Amino acid sequence: MSVSDVILNRRSIRKFEQKPVEEEKLFLIREAGRLSPSASNKQNWKFVLVTEKGLLVDLAEACNSQMFVAEAPAAIVVCATGDRSMGCGQSAATVDCSIAMASMMIQATELGLGTCWLGSFNPTAVKLVLDLPESYIVVAVSPLGYPAEAPAARPRKTSAEVWLER
Ligand SMILES: Cc1cc2nc3c(=O)[nH]c(=O)nc-3n(C[C@H](O)[C@H](O)[C@H](O)COP(=O)(O)O)c2cc1C
Repeated sequence: MSVSDVILNRRSIRKFEQKPVEEEKLFLIREAGRLSPSASNKQNWKFVLVTEKGLLVDLAEACNSQMFVAEAPAAIVVCATGDRSMGCGQSAATVDCSIAMASMMIQATELGLGTCWLGSFNPTAVKLVLDLPESYIVVAVSPLGYPAEAPAARPRKTSAEVWLER
């Protein structure tokens, strides 16, 4: 699948097959996170791959009871180990970790896997469930697995609405 096809075909997936993700695919997804760009190349991040069923259930509860997370065979949690303001005033933690999660989601799509960015979670509860240091900043969570649904494309604003020409 080309990058263009991945961008066109990616959907948020909330139903998953009960089939584990192959180790080779997990490797490529891990690498997509590890190789992502970051501000000043600091790489101040930790990625957590969750596959243990009990932990997935607890993680789903920590994601404000979005229980479909527990139906997936795996989930990825992206954390920053610290934060600083970039020159533009924005949080490097949020931007860096978002790029890494997006890269992993793109890679997962190319491999036929489904993901769903979760921004609704209780960060304290997520850290408790996964035994992570309190200082970590949990930026994003996504289930990962083979899709058991094929949703239609969700609506988008038109190009004219979102692109300004100067
Ligand atoms: C920052 C962010 C936070 C999101 N949080 C959630 C969430 O907590 N739960 C959920 O089911 N979907 C969540 N989504 C998925 C969006 O609802 C979804 O991307 C959007 O409806 C467009 O659909 P699509 O991803 O299939 O194109 C989130 C997406 C983003 C980018």
